[in-house]
Amino acid sequence: MTELQEVQITEEKPLLPGQTPEMAKEAELAARILLDRGQTHSVETPYGSVTFTVYGTPKPKRPAILTYHDVGLNYKSCFQPLFQSGDMQEIIQNFVRVHVDAPGMEEGAPVYPVGYQYPSLDQLADTIPCILQYLNFSSIIGVGVGAGAYILSRYALNHQDTVEGLVLINIDPNAKGWMDWAAHKLTGLTSSIPEMILAHLFSQEELSGNSELIQKYRNIISHAPNLENIELYWNSYNNRRDLNFERGGDITLKCPVMLVVGDQAPHEDAVVECNSKLDPTQTSFLKMADSGGQPQLTQPGKLTEAFKYFLQGMGYMASSCMTRLSRSRTASLTSAASIDGSRSRARTLSQSSESGTLPSGTPGHTMEVSC
Ligand code: BEZ
Repeated sequence: MTELQEVQITEEKPLLPGQTPEMAKEAELAARILLDRGQTHSVETPYGSVTFTVYGTPKPKRPAILTYHDVGLNYKSCFQPLFQSGDMQEIIQNFVRVHVDAPGMEEGAPVYPVGYQYPSLDQLADTIPCILQYLNFSSIIGVGVGAGAYILSRYALNHQDTVEGLVLINIDPNAKGWMDWAAHKLTGLTSSIPEMILAHLFSQEELSGNSELIQKYRNIISHAPNLENIELYWNSYNNRRDLNFERGGDITLKCPVMLVVGDQAPHEDAVVECNSKLDPTQTSFLKMADSGGQPQLTQPGKLTEAFKYFLQGMGYMASSCMTRLSRSRTASLTSAASIDGSRSRARTLSQSSESGTLPSGTPGHTMEVSC
């Protein structure tokens, strides 16, 4: 009897004169970025209309990657540099992406009337099922920054069966204590809302260095036509409840989690504390050197690398998908085992990846990425 064999059919595209296969691949990726402009949708939810943009097409048996941005940003200003970086293309071609804009943050959003009751972060988390139902998507890998990381965590606590993994950048799971409130009020006496939001997003060192990136984001935020809406999202962030994570307790994230924070970034202590409260067998902690407050903007290549290992650990990226670039990059990533947040020096990722084991994507590790 003839044996049936699964064959992989790949489309052969002729190379142009003088074009190497690498150049052809890069041209194809560039074309994909240019052609996929995303489809923007809005859904009505109990907390108002929510806008989101979908890139790529749904892949059978794969979760969608769903992103949620931080205060002062929208999905583009928060995630475009990461999702349009070269190495990321190899990953995202395997996933449909849903980029949520918090209400009133979408491009061209009208300013809410004075007295508008903006949703709390918990209520924003409760709008996510409406989005997934509209799209008929059953599970996600969430990628969130700051307030977005909090919202995705709250969603995961309430709907754990639908969350396969979480990448949480700059998460602060704690409500503000009275000391934080006093400091916040004092700062508010001397600083404008845009400056307070910038100090939430970037380190003092970055702000005083006033690089092009800082100038760009200062300009975006201070001249935002929807600044009143941004202030409402900021207030919801500052009024967040405690997520009450408890290691070994009932309130914890059950899925694989990759915590990310910049070394010396504003939320470093909060993320370290969060790491100590989550299940160490499910949590990887990536502390990125020289990346400032927004690693997804300043170090998209390094973050992509870690994301790839995270997905590999979840069984989504075959190690054969490791590119030339990722193999060479691992040389600059170092990994250290983590026990209850304490660190001890361990192996380098390049050794692990070459020996074919799952490296940093395997939960329960601390990685320090030096650039
Ligand atoms: C994406 O391909 O997922 C993407 C493209 C532009 C901005 C953000 C994300």
